[in-house]
Amino acid sequence: MRHQEAVQRANRSVAQAVAAVDPTLRLHCHFQPPAYWMNDPNGLVYYQGYYHAFYQHNPYSPQWGCMHWGHARTKDFLTWEHLPIALAPSETYDRDGCFSGSAVVAHGALHLFYTGVRQSGGHLVQVQCRAVSTDGIHFAKDPRNPLIAGCPLEGAGDFRDPRVWTHDSSWYMAVGSGSAGRGKVLLYRSADLAKWQYVGIAAESDGSQGTVWECPDLFPLGDRHVLVVSPMGTNPRRVLYAVGDMDYAAGKFIPDSWGELDKGPDFYAAQTFFGAERRIMLAWMQAWESPVPSQDHNWAGAFTLPRELVLDSCGQLQVRPAVELALSRAERLMDAELTLDSGTCLLPVCDLRTGGYEVRLRIGLAGTSAPHMGLILSDAGGELRVVVGLRCEDLELYLDTTRAPGSQCGIYAAELQPAGDELEIWIFLDRCSIEISGPGKAASVTARVHPRCPQVVPEMFAEGGMAKANLQLWILKARS
Ligand code: FRU
Repeated sequence: MRHQEAVQRANRSVAQAVAAVDPTLRLHCHFQPPAYWMNDPNGLVYYQGYYHAFYQHNPYSPQWGCMHWGHARTKDFLTWEHLPIALAPSETYDRDGCFSGSAVVAHGALHLFYTGVRQSGGHLVQVQCRAVSTDGIHFAKDPRNPLIAGCPLEGAGDFRDPRVWTHDSSWYMAVGSGSAGRGKVLLYRSADLAKWQYVGIAAESDGSQGTVWECPDLFPLGDRHVLVVSPMGTNPRRVLYAVGDMDYAAGKFIPDSWGELDKGPDFYAAQTFFGAERRIMLAWMQAWESPVPSQDHNWAGAFTLPRELVLDSCGQLQVRPAVELALSRAERLMDAELTLDSGTCLLPVCDLRTGGYEVRLRIGLAGTSAPHMGLILSDAGGELRVVVGLRCEDLELYLDTTRAPGSQCGIYAAELQPAGDELEIWIFLDRCSIEISGPGKAASVTARVHPRCPQVVPEMFAEGGMAKANLQLWILKARS
């Protein structure tokens, strides 16, 4: 009862705040909270015909604090239906917050696993808890909570973000932790989702990969397993992944290659869906370190666009925009073969008030002698100048936000590995975000940029030679 009262109070607060949200910077084709603060995606799960997404949410302010689980569902990742808040702090063990976690479906019910936190003696006590629903909307906390009341010796005070999955009729839980300066993933096993037995350290940092590993995700992909962790204590802070194998008997994940899941500054706490046929991933499209101008407009945070993870024929992780994104196209503004000889070419102006934009650039490498080419996106007010560039010899794709107000300014690069002569680059520009990707080991870059003037003038450029490309430009549907 206490929990439902806390949920209702939080729902009322958000409903009242919606009217005070200034729409100026609202995104068109990304999920964002109806009002106030959000961070990590939580409990991504396919259940009863919908993709459900929960998220870390403060229903009382556009700043981080008092973590609840917001909730929404979708069939296509584009049209989201906001649902009542799923979890609110209400018990002694979670009185200061319901931190991140995951969801699974078992015997027809939806089970959320989260970290309950409470302040005690100057530190945050973190325990693992469960809440269950049979209608996918109202969640009852397990009276046996906390199901895991303390961290094993190998961990430390940081002990959170349970990720549950199933393998060979057992349940497994990966919990993020860290000690002695090394991030760790602690592994538990269960037969019934209620009693959890500690197995051991499934994976840990080599000493350079962060002091605490937040938000672990561990899942099969093809005939391998992939581990994803969001590390604290690295500079810059990037979500890491490893392709490897899971030795369930030993309780160990054996990595054979590591990489960054996205090379940009505004990508964190990535998680994939449980129960979906494809491995679809969402991440928090913001960062703890980033400026957040929309806080002045009573909201903060969004998910990235959905991305699909696949292993290519060399066993490398490829990250692609999910096919559903094609449904977000409203109108094709351009489809042209362009040949540029050391010059620039103006493209149709994009008005970010009416929708987001997608650009697909298919570059013919054989016909391209320019060592440097790409797109320059400037706003009509002359303040913003973002470059999506390609260094053709090194096959490096980069995003330059050094002249982008309200962003973490920098140059962020990803290495490309085209399969043949043609190289395809995707660019998604929304009201205050840009996501780019191409073929290569997790070759994507995500950043928040906040053009004050919403008219953006794109220009293609080629430097020092000839560039040949097919360029398609779509305006995407406006938010409803
Ligand atoms: C990651 C994180 C998680 C934690 C949550 C709190 O962004 O720090 O480790 O559960 O955010 O909101």
